[in-house]
Amino acid sequence: MTNPIQQYETKVCLMEDLAIVEAIRYLKAGELVAIPTETVYGLAANGLDATAVPKIFQAKGRPQDNPLILHIAEFSMLDKLTKNVPEIARKLVNRFWPGPLTVILPKSNLVPSVVTANLDTVAIRMPQHPTTRALIQRAGIPLAAPSANLSGKPSPTTAEHVYHDLCGKIPLILDGGPCNFGLESTVVQVLDNRVRLLRPGAITASMLSEVVPNLEIDDAIFRPLKEGEVATSPGMKYRHYAPKARVILVEGSFEAFCEFVRKQPQDGRYVLVFSGEEGAFSDHVMTYGYTEEEQARELFAALRKLDEVSAKTVYVRAPSSDGIGLAVYNRLLRAAAFEVVRLPGDAL
Ligand code: TXA
Ligand code: MG
Repeated sequence: MTNPIQQYETKVCLMEDLAIVEAIRYLKAGELVAIPTETVYGLAANGLDATAVPKIFQAKGRPQDNPLILHIAEFSMLDKLTKNVPEIARKLVNRFWPGPLTVILPKSNLVPSVVTANLDTVAIRMPQHPTTRALIQRAGIPLAAPSANLSGKPSPTTAEHVYHDLCGKIPLILDGGPCNFGLESTVVQVLDNRVRLLRPGAITASMLSEVVPNLEIDDAIFRPLKEGEVATSPGMKYRHYAPKARVILVEGSFEAFCEFVRKQPQDGRYVLVFSGEEGAFSDHVMTYGYTEEEQARELFAALRKLDEVSAKTVYVRAPSSDGIGLAVYNRLLRAAAFEVVRLPGDAL
C-alpha cells in the first residue's frame, strides 16, 4: 500500500529571522521548504537525508531518474561532496561562486544516491542570494533543491508561483521577492579537464570561455534528443517550461512576424512579443521584456500568465541569442517542443 499524500497548510513567510529559524527546523526534521535564489525558487530538502529527498520527487511529480542540485554555502563543502575537484573546476567555482553556476563532478559517498538518481556524479552550486546562503550556512547542511514548480511547468520566479504549484504539498514557502535572473543556473559538467555546457544560464558561454578556452557546448541545447539517445543531463529529456497552450517560436523580423501571425486561426490565439511591440496588436497580446536580461527575468511569469488566460496557441517572438539571450532561447525552444517557424529578417 502506498502512503496517502500528506496535506499541509502551506505558509508563505517573508524571509526574516523567525521564518528562517522555522525553515531550518523543518529542513532538519526532514520536511521540504521552498526558498528563493537569484535564479528561480528552489524546493529544498536536507541533501544528506535519504528519507527527506524523495519527498521532493513526490511533491513535484518529478521523474525518479532526474537528479537534483546540492546547494552549498562554503567552499569546504564542495570537497566533502565530491571525490576530487579538477583544477579547471576549481578555477570555475573560484570565479563564479557564489552565483548562478552549477558544476557536475564525481560524487563522494556522503551524497545519497537518491539525490543523483543513481548517477556517480553530483551537481553542486553555491547560490548568490545572500539570505539563502546565510540560511544554508546556519543549517550546516547542503540543500537538495530543484526548481519549485510542478514537473514540466515553468520554473517559479515569485513566491506566488510556488504557492500556485505546491499549495498543500509543503509546509513553508520563504518569500524573498522576485528572482533577480529569472532563469535556472548555467550547468556544466567537468570530466577530468574537459568542461561541457549542458544548460545555458546567466553565466554565459563567453564568460565561461574566459576561464575555459576549449569549452564544449552540448548540442542537445539546441535540438530534441534522438530516438534512444542517452541525455548527458537527464533533464534534457523532458518537455519543460510548458504552458498548457501550444507554443510556436517565430524567428525573423517584427514585420514578418505580424504578417505571419495575422494569417493564423484566431481561436485562442495569443502573441508573446518584446516590450514596446504590443501596440501592434489590439488584444490577446503579452510581452516579456526588451533587453536580454529583462526577457530572462520575465519569461516564466509570462508563460504562466498564458495559462491563466487559457491561451490555446501562442506565437512567440524569438529572442536574440546573445549573452543570457541564449538561455532564454533554449527555454523557449523547449516550451515550444522545438516547433520553430523561420521568417525573413533579424529579430531587431
Ligand atoms: O538555478 C537553478 O539551477 C535552480 C535553483 C533552485 O538552484 N535549480 C534547478 O534545478 O533548476 P532543476 O532540478 O530544475 O535542474 C537541474 C538540472 C536538471 O536538468 C538535471 O537533470 C541536471 O541539472 N542534473 C542534476 N544533476 C546532474 C548530474 N549528476 N548529471 C547530469 N545532469 C544533472
Ligand atoms: Mg526544473
